[in-house]
Amino acid sequence: SQSTVILGIETSCDDTGCAVIDGTGRLLGESLYSQTALHTRYGGVNPIFAHELHHNNIDRAVTEALDKAGKTIKDVDAIAVTTKPGLILSLQVGAKYARYLSRIHSKPLIPVHHMEAHALVSRMYHKLELPFLVLLISGGHCLLALVKDIDDFLLLGKSLDNAPGEVLDKVARRMKLRNIPEYSQLCGGKALELAAQKSTNPSQFEFPLPLSKFRDCNFSFSGLKDSSVRKLIQKETEHNVMGDGLIPEVFDLCAAFQLAVAEHIAHRTHRAMMFCDKNMLINPENKAIVVSGGVACNNFIFQSIEHVGSKMGYRAYRPPPSVCTDNGVMIAWNGLEKLKKQCDIRTDFSLKEVVPE
Ligand code: KG4
Ligand code: ZN
Repeated sequence: SQSTVILGIETSCDDTGCAVIDGTGRLLGESLYSQTALHTRYGGVNPIFAHELHHNNIDRAVTEALDKAGKTIKDVDAIAVTTKPGLILSLQVGAKYARYLSRIHSKPLIPVHHMEAHALVSRMYHKLELPFLVLLISGGHCLLALVKDIDDFLLLGKSLDNAPGEVLDKVARRMKLRNIPEYSQLCGGKALELAAQKSTNPSQFEFPLPLSKFRDCNFSFSGLKDSSVRKLIQKETEHNVMGDGLIPEVFDLCAAFQLAVAEHIAHRTHRAMMFCDKNMLINPENKAIVVSGGVACNNFIFQSIEHVGSKMGYRAYRPPPSVCTDNGVMIAWNGLEKLKKQCDIRTDFSLKEVVPE
């Protein structure tokens, strides 16, 4: 009901995110301490740094979310916290803090799977009935799954090598997009999306479609990354570009690379839709695909999913951008869904799988 209050805590990677929602799924307050700018500067997530920053921020992140919601910890009915998957030191900061709060205030704990939270949070914004298809694309993950129930996922495919966000970040870094002042503070994926919009001649660069011969739903991005770097080096040599310099075709290469990534993702998603249709895994009256994870913020990539979706009769959804990337809202929402189904509610205040006693 409306009087139920859930606190969600996320610390699995490099963002300290907290949120307070009520029993109807209304967001009451949230906070986010992002380390993106820092990690962009150092070229990737450093687990030791990430741990330290979570440690420094967790207390104020929780307090801020509660304050914004006009609530105190005493009003909270359950504390949901990410327990897997992620960087173990990072996960432990959130889990230990949640366990501490739950013990001193006698509040039940709800362990949350980070990927399941990404997948389900769309239900907070859209009327989405189960089962539905989900495409999770982020800096750490890449998978296609059928969400059969809130705690029952059928994995259809995953990346055999890198995650798409990781590859977008690496390529953006190698192309030195950070040296363009307007992009210097952005994550690689966002910088690349904006750079691609400035392209006038993307078709001068061609990329082969990865895994085109395979009839499964797996992904592979490392080949696209390597061939974009090869094309870049070739142009750098041609133009005699050195140090911090950019090639004149940088926007075209960004656009061509982004197109290749989008086409590959759309191709695998198409396969997943065909698989679900053929095996009657999805209600034909109600076919939906949810795209989530940081890369779902990319409009070009999302539109390519909408496009295959429209051909296959699937409506495509994604949460608002701030909820696609890592955040506390999705954890609180998952806590609420689990509370309603009484699924894995810990009243012994322990989270042994992440923080041994
Ligand atoms: O979900 P997320 O915050 O963290 C992980 O769980 O990985 O996703 C972060 C990733 C980064 O790789 C970032 O480059 C990518 O999401 N990203 C984007 C965009 N915004 C964020 N990629 C492409 N286009 C965007 N607009
Ligand atoms: Zn994530």
